[in-house]
Amino acid sequence: MSIDVSGTEGYAENARSLIEQWQDISFAEHHEPILHLVPTPTSCILDVGAGIGTDAAAFAALGHTVVAVEPVDALRIAGIRQHPSPRIEWLDDSLPDLAILQSRRKEFDFVMLSAVWMHLDEHERRRAMPNVSALLRDGAMLVLSLRHGPVPKGRRMFDVSAGETIQLANAHGLRTALNVQTQSVQRGNRCMGVTWSRLAFSKDGARS
Ligand SMILES: C[S@@+](CC[C@H](N)C(=O)[O-])C[C@H]1O[C@@H](n2cnc3c(N)ncnc32)[C@H](O)[C@@H]1O
Repeated sequence: MSIDVSGTEGYAENARSLIEQWQDISFAEHHEPILHLVPTPTSCILDVGAGIGTDAAAFAALGHTVVAVEPVDALRIAGIRQHPSPRIEWLDDSLPDLAILQSRRKEFDFVMLSAVWMHLDEHERRRAMPNVSALLRDGAMLVLSLRHGPVPKGRRMFDVSAGETIQLANAHGLRTALNVQTQSVQRGNRCMGVTWSRLAFSKDGARS
């Protein structure tokens, strides 16, 4: 029920135009900085805040099985319609608790939090990180991106630094594997000065 989920403000109201806008973004272009981290062997992938499932569909096309978590009904339903792959399971669940997923006690090889983390406030981020970490099996990879710059009207977004996110992840058994800053691939956002932090962490029990 997206109306109650913190972080989703502005998505249901603008779902139609966002769905249209997101059609033009290719997985390879969007995720160029982290493509080398995507597993090659067939893996279990979790995509949290999956939107209309562009990334989930790309993972499924590579042979992976994907759980796509999306709390906004309009986006999840559009994703189910656009990507009717038997390799994708859609779930109405949400950060910070991911309560349905946690109750399954399943672990993943690769977890994607693309353009989602900065929708959580500090308290929610602190609650979410151990929950996300618990969903990664040893040796698994967490990939996330943080948006910096002007906040679109009606959205709930915080300026979350890469430094804070690295500290929080490291405190929960996740070792930093990637930290790069990029421009936005979307022309409109690039013109507005939107930049991104692209981060990746591996779960190997070590703390950095
Ligand atoms: C900018 S979109 C990113 C969509 C997709 N991951 C991508 O990179 O194209 C942010 C997504 O995060 C979802 N979201 C916002 N708050 C969330 C929360 N608390 N738990 C899970 N997903 C959330 C929104 O519904 C939306 O689909």
